[in-house]
Amino acid sequence: MKIDGKTRTCGLIGNPVEHTLSPLIHNNLAQMTGKNMVYVPFLVQNDNVEEAVKGAYALHIMGMNVTVPHKSAVIEHCVSLDPLAEKIGAVNTLVSVEGGYRGYNTDMTGLLRAMQTEEIYVKDETVLLLGAGGAARAVAFLCVSEGAKKVYLCNRTLEKAQQVAEEVNKAFATDCIVPISYDMICTITEDRLLAIQGTSVGLHPNTDNTPLADGAIYDKIHTGVDLIYRPVETKFMKLVKAHGGKTMNGLKMLLYQGIIAYELWNDVTIDNVQAEEILQKMKEEMEIHE
Ligand code: ATR
Repeated sequence: MKIDGKTRTCGLIGNPVEHTLSPLIHNNLAQMTGKNMVYVPFLVQNDNVEEAVKGAYALHIMGMNVTVPHKSAVIEHCVSLDPLAEKIGAVNTLVSVEGGYRGYNTDMTGLLRAMQTEEIYVKDETVLLLGAGGAARAVAFLCVSEGAKKVYLCNRTLEKAQQVAEEVNKAFATDCIVPISYDMICTITEDRLLAIQGTSVGLHPNTDNTPLADGAIYDKIHTGVDLIYRPVETKFMKLVKAHGGKTMNGLKMLLYQGIIAYELWNDVTIDNVQAEEILQKMKEEMEIHE
């Protein structure tokens, strides 16, 4: 990598940032597409988000990713927002525009593109969405905006599922999100479900855990998507597979949230072959051998 007077900078703000795979994604994309760009992580404390965003703009940093815990706090420091990011209320990508940064949510568009590469579509599906935290909430917005027929939003704490369902239904003037708890799962009448696992249950090192215990419901799941990528096959995915379903983990979502951010910053399109090359590098870095 050659750094000279014309090198443009992008980066990541978050806390912590040490374990991020984003520099690997972006610096390899820059090399692959011949862009004179460098991507670096910036540790930003919770009280410093405004200074970080203003300072980044003053330094002509052309784009930033935003990770936990700053994805909502950064919103008020954007000059404009992409409509989906605005609806979700979470921004993970800043793009330099006149006067400041425009905020996007490429986590969700990344998930969508990742699913498309696996021929998994949300439109007209009955979705069983597990969880009602930040990640699952964003997926609920995505499902409605992509035309899911119905979304069973299933959470351990029913009240939280009810809150999120109300919020999303209101945002789209629909009643397509139905909040349930795990003991209400047997009331689902549809027999073909796209299940999306949006909790942190099953995450390394607690790989034997799943929020959805083995049972008849798995026979209805034709596809199970887990947002977790470590381990590469979660207990939830194993159960879906054992009952004859197709599975996908969260690694491609991570890849495509990066790719879409890169495309926004550099006005280029990354094709599937290039994406696959980056995915291999991510797997090498994570020591995933398949
Ligand atoms: P994130 O922002 O990553 O989505 P979060 O906001 O902490 O994380 O949400 C975690 C999600 O995992 C919640 O839906 C939580 O359910 P509760 O709302 O009932 O707490 C869910 N979760 C955590 N531990 C769980 C468990 N043992 N079984 C089922 N769901 C669990």
